[in-house]
Parts: sequence; C-alpha cells; structure tokens
Amino acid sequence: MQAKVQAQIQAQLASRQQRQRCRQLTTVTSTASELQLAGQRYLHFSSNDYLGLSTHPAVRAAWCSLATVGSRASTLVTGYQTEHARLSAQLAEFLGYEAVVLFGSAFAANSGGLATLGRLYDKLWLDRLAHASIIAGAQQSGQSWRRFRHNQLQTMTPGSEGTCELVVTESVFSMDGDQLPLTDYAQLQHQRPQVDWWLDDAHGFGVLGDEGRGIVELMQQAPTYLVLAFGKACGVAGGAIACSADAANYLINYCPELIYSTAMPAAQAAAISAAVEVICQAEGQQLRSRLAANVRLFRELAQQRELPVSASAHAIQTLVLGTDERALAVSAKLRAQGIWCSAIRPPTVPEGTARLRLTLTAAHTEVHIHRLIDALASALDAP
Ligand SMILES: Cc1ncc(COP(=O)(O)O)c(C=O)c1O
Repeated sequence: MQAKVQAQIQAQLASRQQRQRCRQLTTVTSTASELQLAGQRYLHFSSNDYLGLSTHPAVRAAWCSLATVGSRASTLVTGYQTEHARLSAQLAEFLGYEAVVLFGSAFAANSGGLATLGRLYDKLWLDRLAHASIIAGAQQSGQSWRRFRHNQLQTMTPGSEGTCELVVTESVFSMDGDQLPLTDYAQLQHQRPQVDWWLDDAHGFGVLGDEGRGIVELMQQAPTYLVLAFGKACGVAGGAIACSADAANYLINYCPELIYSTAMPAAQAAAISAAVEVICQAEGQQLRSRLAANVRLFRELAQQRELPVSASAHAIQTLVLGTDERALAVSAKLRAQGIWCSAIRPPTVPEGTARLRLTLTAAHTEVHIHRLIDALASALDAP
C-alpha cells in the first residue's frame, strides 16, 4: 500500500478511536433471542429477526434442500433458477405488484435501484432520516435531490407543472421504530398524483398488517416502488424491489447491481420463500400476535419504571441517551447483567442522540422482557 494512503487510513482511524467511535467486528453465535460471545450467554435484544424465522424448521429445511450451494452466475447469465422465479412470483402475488426483482441485499436494491430509476426523474425528495442505502442511491443517480423534515411529508414544496418527482421514504424507521404517517401519505398521493413513491418496507414486511404483507396492507394505494429486506422478518438475507413489469424490465437491462453481480444462491431464495409461506399463514399471525404482546408488555413495564423509551409501536424500541459515553456505559452495564443490546452512535444516528436500539422478537418470552426491564432500570438508576 502507498505510504500516503496508509497514513490517511491510520489518521482517520485514530480520529475515530479518539472519539471512541471506532467500529469493530464482534464474533458471536446467536438466535433471535440468545447470543453467545466468548463462552458467555446473553439475552439478545439487537436482532432484526422479528418473528424468529431464522431458526424455523421449514426455513432451515428449505435452505438445506438444494444439492448445490452457489448460483454460479449473475441473474442475467445463468444464475436465475426455479427458486428465484418462484420467490418473485410468490411475492408479486402476495403484495399485488406486477413484478418483483431480487437483489443480493436491500442495500443493493435501494442504492442500485434508486441510482438507476432515480435518474429518470427531475427531482428526488428524501426523508431526512432515510437509510444510508437510500442516500447512496440518490447520490449515484446524479439527479438533483433534497431532503424533507423527518416524516413531514407536507413540507415538500410542489414542483412546477410537468416536473417529474420521486418521493423516497420508509415505512418504519430503523433507528427509532416510528412509522410513516399514513394519513399524510394518502392525502399527498391524492393531492399530487403526478408524484411517484419509493417506499422502503425493510422493517414492515412480515410484521405489519394482519396478513403480514407489511405497509401495503395498511394503504389504499400502494407505492410505485416497494423495497423489501429479507434479513429482517424473513430471518434470511437479501432484498427486492416490487414494481411494474416495465420498471422491472428496465432494472434488468440498466441496473449494474443486478447485471454484474452473482445471483443470490437458489437455496437462499428457497429459504425466503419458506419464510414468506410462514408469514402469510396462521402461524405468521400467531407470531405477529406474540411479538405485539411482547411490545405491549415492554412498553407497559417501561412506563411503570419511568424509562425514557421513545414512542414506537414497533419491535424497534429506542432509548435516546445523548452522549456516546452514556450509551456505551449503559450498554456495558446491561451486558454485565446478561443482556445484549448494542449502543448506536453517530454517524449512524444524528450527533447528540446516541442510543440503545432494542429489538423485541416473537422468540422472546415474558420472563425475558421482565429481565430486560429490571436490567435497564438498574443500568439507568431508574425507580
Ligand atoms: C431501512 C433499511 N433499508 C435497507 C436496509 C439494508 O438491508 P440489507 O441488510 O438487506 O442490506 C436496512 C438494514 O440495515 C434498513 O434498516
């Protein structure tokens, strides 16, 4: 490596270290509700496996059902197999879209998809708290883009006659668990029918709605583009964009992330399919009810103990603690009591809002939630 490059790497890492913001990998073994590190067991409250499907027998069996491991080529060459086609068709039908295009991750779906489709619009509007993958896509689109105040859809100034605009936002925000205001969304769709919508449903699919169809189940009119993340409620990994047949064809022809990347393994597509099956059946409903009961219990107990929990009806529950030091200290105190909950610090969240981001799952029991609350109260010196 060139000395000049190495010097820059070292200087930038040292600056992060100085501010205690240097990220590092932690090697763990985990399920939705338990984490093991260096022989120690912890109750796990930092997993997005909201329904506990990563260990579901049907999902695991589907993963193991294929004789070959890799997909051996990009989607467009020979990587697209029966399992991919089945998953796309299953999702398109479940969500009511003409087509679903699969990606290796939701990050690639947002960044690649927005970079490709975004350049067809005159202007992009992004929620101020939009995920990093959305910002990457907007930047790569080369198109003019602006941000609107978080969840304040009405603050977007209408474009002049004939301007082609795309509004990009999320159904559930990953760092706060708060949701898109659906009434405002419907109103704006009505007031500005010339606007297209890009909605990231990473944390909604499988969790929201009686049938688990996510945010589209709660809307009268589905967004133009819907992004899915299979590493959350499906318990697997991967991403997708649900859209019109024309938009899907356009992505297949023009999106580099899709064209020049090895297709997700067929076994992964089979496992996601199995997870979607669970999500849309009675078992999925039971898991969503259990998750909802866990969220209710957590919030009731947190209120009784006067814990500073932000407003959220979702599995994502946040305690904004302010400084990095405080968030790290509380996370360490929890760990000492056998609870794993990672501290989230800037630049992932805005300056001065370092926090504990807790995730509840259907795999947690009431006893787990009581233990979490006791540990939090003790770590925060609450009553
Ligand atoms: C809102 C949102 N979109 C997209 C992603 C990216 O998902 P994936 O892990 O599949 O790349 C995440 C995950 O961190 C997310 O929270």
